[in-house]
Amino acid sequence: MLIKKHAITLALGGLLVATMSFSVTAKTTLKLSHNNDKTHPVHISMQAMADEVKKATDGEVVIRIYPNSQLGNQRESMELIQSGSLDMAKSNASELEAFQPLYGAFNVPYLFKDSAHYYKVLQDPEIGGKILDSTKGKGFIGLTYYDAGSRSFYAKKPIKTPADLKGLKVRVQPSPSALEMMKLMGASATPLAFGELYTALQQGVVDAAENNPTALTLMRHGEVAKFYSEDEHTIIPDVLLISEKSWAKLTPEQQKIVKEAADHSMMTHKDLWAKATQEEIQKAKDTMGVEFVKVDKQPFVDAVKPMHDKALSDPVIGPMVQKIDEAR
Ligand code: GCU
Repeated sequence: MLIKKHAITLALGGLLVATMSFSVTAKTTLKLSHNNDKTHPVHISMQAMADEVKKATDGEVVIRIYPNSQLGNQRESMELIQSGSLDMAKSNASELEAFQPLYGAFNVPYLFKDSAHYYKVLQDPEIGGKILDSTKGKGFIGLTYYDAGSRSFYAKKPIKTPADLKGLKVRVQPSPSALEMMKLMGASATPLAFGELYTALQQGVVDAAENNPTALTLMRHGEVAKFYSEDEHTIIPDVLLISEKSWAKLTPEQQKIVKEAADHSMMTHKDLWAKATQEEIQKAKDTMGVEFVKVDKQPFVDAVKPMHDKALSDPVIGPMVQKIDEAR
């Protein structure tokens, strides 16, 4: 009898240990999709965030990153996030405009004076913070921003004035503002996902594109477009997002850890980005023979000025654009 009792106690004890060890190892894995290469600074910065989260949660929250549009392009990823089938994604404020018009505030050309103005806006709770929070109830929320540099035109020929764009098919991000900008500059805009652009350039489906200089090397666009004309028409951040369904699965403590790690990674990325941009420009020149062309920005600024005026009187983005102007 005694032996039997002992055996039961042991068995129950074993069960308890099994249950305990189960709860200790129970972990939440968050899948994060993005469309850059794993050598891109944004991937490295997000990996730093994932490492920080894993360490601070004792392995309970693991962020697994899928680069190169493996889980779909930015639009597809956003749709999966909204339906709760994907946990996290990095997109760009340009594409996000279609999901939340407020992100369009970042898409106004020649909005930012310099990097200090840009970071001030992104970190301002009343501007950058409000925009990240603005999608609550729409299936996802923003966690942080990543610098994606300034965007300029690149093609098989230099583009020194808006007149050089006439008749050119220019790939843009799928966003209403990008279409409007190209119309004002006199080009014909072709919206395409980033991952499709190399082939489109190579096959002449488009004649030109616009992006930060890292696209030349990291996406190999410099193999087909040999002139990068530095008009710097927009400075549009990348944005890290999480589905509300996945966010709700985290405990308040885990949410705090994820948010803090995301904020830290924005600053890791700031330094990394500045360094990588310089390195990639050098590589594009030395290994791909890309020519960087200085341009007089004024004719470009003048061409798109109506967008700024229109944005200011827009009921949705107007108040944000005004705040961004005031933060100059
Ligand atoms: C930037 C950004 C990408 C984005 C791309 C684009 O390079 O980092 O996430 O997709 O622009 O032009 O589509």
